[in-house]
Amino acid sequence: MKEQTGIHSSLRTVEWKNNTVIMIDQTKLPNKLEYVKFKDYRKVADAIKELVIRGAPAIGVAGAFGLALASLQSKAKTKEKLLEDLEKARKVLFETRPTAVNLAWGLEKIMQIANKGNDVSEIKNLVVETAKKMAVEDVEINMKMGKFGSELFVNNDTIMTHCNAGALATVGYGTALGVIRATKDSGKSIKVIATETRPVMQGSRLTVFELKHDGIDVSLIPDTAVGYSMANKLVSKVIVGADRILRTGHVYNKIGTYQVALMAKQHNIPFYVAAPLSTFDLKSRPEDVIIEQRKSSEVTGVAGKKTAPDDINVINPAFDMTPPELISGIITESGIAKPPFEESIQKLFESRL
Ligand code: MRU
Repeated sequence: MKEQTGIHSSLRTVEWKNNTVIMIDQTKLPNKLEYVKFKDYRKVADAIKELVIRGAPAIGVAGAFGLALASLQSKAKTKEKLLEDLEKARKVLFETRPTAVNLAWGLEKIMQIANKGNDVSEIKNLVVETAKKMAVEDVEINMKMGKFGSELFVNNDTIMTHCNAGALATVGYGTALGVIRATKDSGKSIKVIATETRPVMQGSRLTVFELKHDGIDVSLIPDTAVGYSMANKLVSKVIVGADRILRTGHVYNKIGTYQVALMAKQHNIPFYVAAPLSTFDLKSRPEDVIIEQRKSSEVTGVAGKKTAPDDINVINPAFDMTPPELISGIITESGIAKPPFEESIQKLFESRL
């Protein structure tokens, strides 16, 4: 059962307070800004699965907070038993969503730190403090990305975005929408076109909600109007987030991103991706990446109302892959990678060492 809190003062997607994980229930947006709180890591896993919290960086930090709860829930008296309990929790959290690599990254980071602790109380302390630090760093990283990315945009740009890669997809500020925020804050006048992003409507429910909240000029279009908007010169640039980026520059993001990128190529419109280095998976090849398939009811209905006949087959992949040749640049907290990506991505990681 989700517990309600009365906390409405901050727009933080996820945070840790008094040994409790507090998150905005994004399934309720834009109609209600409601916060839920959890003390059990299994409930955090359910929240990730049900999209109460979503967006690659946000679920990375939520996973880390999940392990922090698991460490406090554990009754282990020895280091070995505590690590065993944490490993069990890691598996439960990991299995919630397979495509966004930030989740595996966040869980791995916590497990590495846990293994360094000498005893039960030191491990618990390390795990909680590291998860809290990851949340703080997420916002700092997004702001750095925003600074780099804002240089790619000019006065009077109209920027198309797909899905929600904003404050609501991170701990705060956002990746693609962070770049848009930073561009506006640098004094440039910009407009945004947001796709509604069927079937879960992250564009209309979340991106438009967020941008309107911040006073950024935004127009909502149906996903089917991407071609129309580009052909009629309503769009000058595109920016999206990412759930996973391979060393070759293959980008996995919300279903429909590939179509937007192809259309942008056809109309000579620059197509940018903004993502932290924690979204990169330098080991996998395209054939290794699991694309999450979601339930058919997301497609056969809208807002709980049936819009398709009973018993029809549905194909509902949550993500697609955009190949590197459609991408003009990848904005990170360490700089902007430009084609050829295999080289520029490697350089970004080397410059970090
Ligand atoms: O299914 P979701 O809502 O978790 O998908 C989110 C996206 O695809 C975002 O574009 C991506 O996670 C980048 S978020 C900064």
